[in-house]
Amino acid sequence: MLVSPKELFKKCYGKYAIAAVNVFTMEQIHGLFRAGEKANAPFLVQITPAARNYAHSLMLSAMVQAASKIYPKAVYAVHLDHGNEAHALEAIASNTYNSVMIDASHDSFNKNVERTKTIVEEAHKKNIFVEAELGVLSGVEDDISVDEKEARYTRPSEVEEFVKLTQCDSLAVAVGTSHGAYKFSGGQGIQFNILEEIQQRLPNFPIVLHGGSAVNKEEISRINCSGGKLNGGATGVSPEEIVKSITYGVCKINIATDTRLLWARVHREFFKDTPELFDPIIPGKEYMKANEAFMLEKFELLGATGKA
Ligand code: G3H
Ligand code: 13P
Ligand code: NA
Ligand code: ZN
Repeated sequence: MLVSPKELFKKCYGKYAIAAVNVFTMEQIHGLFRAGEKANAPFLVQITPAARNYAHSLMLSAMVQAASKIYPKAVYAVHLDHGNEAHALEAIASNTYNSVMIDASHDSFNKNVERTKTIVEEAHKKNIFVEAELGVLSGVEDDISVDEKEARYTRPSEVEEFVKLTQCDSLAVAVGTSHGAYKFSGGQGIQFNILEEIQQRLPNFPIVLHGGSAVNKEEISRINCSGGKLNGGATGVSPEEIVKSITYGVCKINIATDTRLLWARVHREFFKDTPELFDPIIPGKEYMKANEAFMLEKFELLGATGKA
């Protein structure tokens, strides 16, 4: 059942969080929906502009719609991740998303407000939920790469005015996480003091944490044991920090890198262990199962199991 993030976040605020998982392939969509149904946990399927370019927007939307029929008990929202104005307008017009992110976080405050407002006006005509972002995450966001040094935490003094001016429905913040497999290269961790101040200024308002992957050490070592060359500095957000963030109003945890690492591990091990095989169905099935198991664990951690 397609549900608005508004409803999901109202229910979970301060108690548990909703996983928002980037999908690029059929195997990920099966794994995610299967786990959601099995755990009776709500989730967000999120699609980036890069994923739309890769698979085709029609293909991804059709797969998500098919999944809703295959897994009729799944409770989910369909979200555009890191859209610019054009992407967001296109997603709104397509009638296949009930949630969009307008990411104008690299613009000035005023320009960000202006761009976000335009999208909010269009989206709200159709009851589509809007996530905006204030602050700049370090790391890689699609084709935008921000140097670790240029990363700019969200300024709590700006959040109230931003939300009031734009009327956005949730806010992604930069509080120390970054995209990709090499987080916290400055060793900083999540800045809970900033999160706390944001919550004081925006009580009961849903906050979004980008860069939510755990970057499991065992996955990294299995990838490297089967021919991968991931740098020893690969690290993610600890389960403790994720859980703690929920009490500060974080309602949505974004996850992409972890499912990419799973893909790499499953396929590397398959080719290493069975060099005589070449049928994509075999590692594909394995990857579906790995995605399902990963999501079941994630729902547990976030406290979302049984909450659909
Ligand atoms: O922040 C979102 C994702 O990490 C970007 O994923 O560019 O491969 O779609 P993508
Ligand atoms: P990760 O790179 O930690 O998976 O973050 C994903 C994300 O924020 C997608 O928007
Ligand atoms: Na951003
Ligand atoms: Zn992101």
